[in-house]
Amino acid sequence: MIFTPVTFKNITLPGRMIRSATEFFAADEKGHIPQTELDAYKVLGHQPLGMIITAHTCISPEGWSNRHQNAAWSEDYLEECTVLAQNAKAGGVPAVMQLGHGGERGKNNNGGLPVYTPDTMTAAEIRYLTESFGRAAKLAKDAGFDGIMLHAAHGYLLSQCFYPGSNHRTDAYGGTAEKRFRIIREAALEVKKTCGDTFPVFMKINGDDHADTEEYHRDLVTALNIADECGIEAAEISGNWPSRGPEYTEPYFIGNIRRLVNETDLPLIEVGGIRTRAHMEAVLEAGAKAFSLSRPLICDPELPEKFRDGKEDTVIPCLSCGKCFRPMDLTKKHRCAQFE
Ligand SMILES: Cc1cc2nc3c(=O)[nH]c(=O)nc-3n(C[C@H](O)[C@H](O)[C@H](O)COP(=O)(O)O)c2cc1C
Repeated sequence: MIFTPVTFKNITLPGRMIRSATEFFAADEKGHIPQTELDAYKVLGHQPLGMIITAHTCISPEGWSNRHQNAAWSEDYLEECTVLAQNAKAGGVPAVMQLGHGGERGKNNNGGLPVYTPDTMTAAEIRYLTESFGRAAKLAKDAGFDGIMLHAAHGYLLSQCFYPGSNHRTDAYGGTAEKRFRIIREAALEVKKTCGDTFPVFMKINGDDHADTEEYHRDLVTALNIADECGIEAAEISGNWPSRGPEYTEPYFIGNIRRLVNETDLPLIEVGGIRTRAHMEAVLEAGAKAFSLSRPLICDPELPEKFRDGKEDTVIPCLSCGKCFRPMDLTKKHRCAQFE
């Protein structure tokens, strides 16, 4: 099952093991991608993965999430994004670029440009935001990517728009789950308008809120069903606390997936905490159509072929220590603290 293809609306993945979006936090001050990052995809691109999702990439100059983020808001980034896509796709694995806006995270990172928040965005800013998603997606498409992923998880702007705790609007973009999801829907539709109806759009979204409440679960079901209607391929289910420590020994969102599959037809992808073959099989049995790995592939980028080659005792050496969650030291060969 792990290495059998899966077809969504407009794309077939050759297998179910996905590389989840993973930043290197090492771009220069203009958001240009370092050679080390481009080279890393040469290794991943030859692995038997179902799909590669490249790093969270900033869609507009005020939308930085951190000072070392990759950017894709103008033709200035086309050449390096083309190399990125070529390297990621070198072995025939589809690649999608994750696009996002940092919202409030721009405050200390965007050089004094306006800071976007769910409550203060004007109608013109909302339009500009969705157009920026469309523009960056077109750049990704022109660079050779097979699709994009909207980053609507982890407290960035799209995610904040969806949470009632950070969106207090009383107009068409606030209130009910449908209205709080409207910006994400408009961003998806704008990408389709700019890149064509069949251009694959994925979405990463939190499976829980701070307390894993029933209210949030119901809101999420509404959101996933709208996403399905507007042509989103699949939702990667993450959460408020996405990269946990070694004390978490089960796939983090398997319980959420188990419930959600009964309430939506949108294909779901589990991300977080997958460390054994049994975990992979369990999330697929729970109803996820695929699963993704981040830190395990930082630790050992050749894990997919080790699993494919059938060694039942293959172990993922990642300790979930989280030390990779920092700007990559470009003078070092390996990014995992175990191998420094
Ligand atoms: C170094 C690092 C960078 C990450 N960058 C991103 C990112 O760009 N976009 C994103 O959605 N999640 C990002 N994440 C979160 C992962 O995609 C994933 O959701 C999380 O780490 C859980 O998966 P894991 O247990 O396999 O690491 C990052 C995680 C790490 C450790």
